[in-house]
Amino acid sequence: MESPFKADVLKGKVALVTGGGSGIGFEICTQFGKHGASIAIMGRRRSVLDSAVDALTAIGIPAVGFEGDVRRQEDCKRVVESTFQHYSKIDILVNKAAGNFLASAEDLSPNGFKTVLDIDSVGTFTMCHEALNGGAILSISATLHLTASWYQIHVSAAKAAVDATTRNLALEWGTDYDIRVNGIAPGPIGDTVGMSKLAPDEITSKARDYMPLYKLGEKWDIAMAALYLTSDAADGGLWLSRPRH
Ligand code: HXC
Repeated sequence: MESPFKADVLKGKVALVTGGGSGIGFEICTQFGKHGASIAIMGRRRSVLDSAVDALTAIGIPAVGFEGDVRRQEDCKRVVESTFQHYSKIDILVNKAAGNFLASAEDLSPNGFKTVLDIDSVGTFTMCHEALNGGAILSISATLHLTASWYQIHVSAAKAAVDATTRNLALEWGTDYDIRVNGIAPGPIGDTVGMSKLAPDEITSKARDYMPLYKLGEKWDIAMAALYLTSDAADGGLWLSRPRH
């Protein structure tokens, strides 16, 4: 598909993407790179990082992978520092790292609940905190917490916290540091680990009948939204603003 954006919309920018080795995160890396950005990926698995970096460099995108777990503050700090060392700056932080599995509330251990909050919510805040340096932040959540979702109480709680963190940072850091903080809440997106783990095929094909366009969203859709929100095309929002007290 041809991009609706000019190829230099992120020219000269450096983007650090957590969970950028696969799925939506990798598509964001690819599209950011195709639009001029240099990419740093943070992820837990070396092999996933290596193949993502190889795929990006093969199409001429500057890319580097740093191993790390967003649950560990020291990893977040080290990866942010390594990205600075490698590219001399970070313009864009994308928080995409997330953990997920289906479990009914009564079968889910409190530690299972905590594990997903640690990855999604605390991990997002920690990365924002370590990377605070101007530029733009984009955090990817979901739509399941906007209503309720079967067997995803932990994920719903985690994504609700991600959205709350996005709104509060947009207010505080937009005002104080001129940092644009945005979120994207994707619905079901085809061809992702999230979909294959959480929604068996028969559910997906039935659900399609109720979808406005009779089809699943695509990773491309999210990457294009990400491109818009992190580019200079997107500028400050008013609806969150309120007096400081
Ligand atoms: C029940 C589980 C479980 C499962 C782990 N736990 N997997 N409970 N069912 N399938 C519990 C464990 O019992 C344990 O609690 C606690 O969680 C920690 O488990 P660990 O195995 O030690 O955790 P870890 O190895 O760190 O694994 C993290 C993980 C894992 C989140 C559990 O599944 C993971 O990292 N998955 C890959 C990431 C992923 O799926 N990404 C896709 C995101 S998609 P106890 O009490 O036993 O100690 C996405 C889209 C959302 O975000 C929206 C979709 C519509």
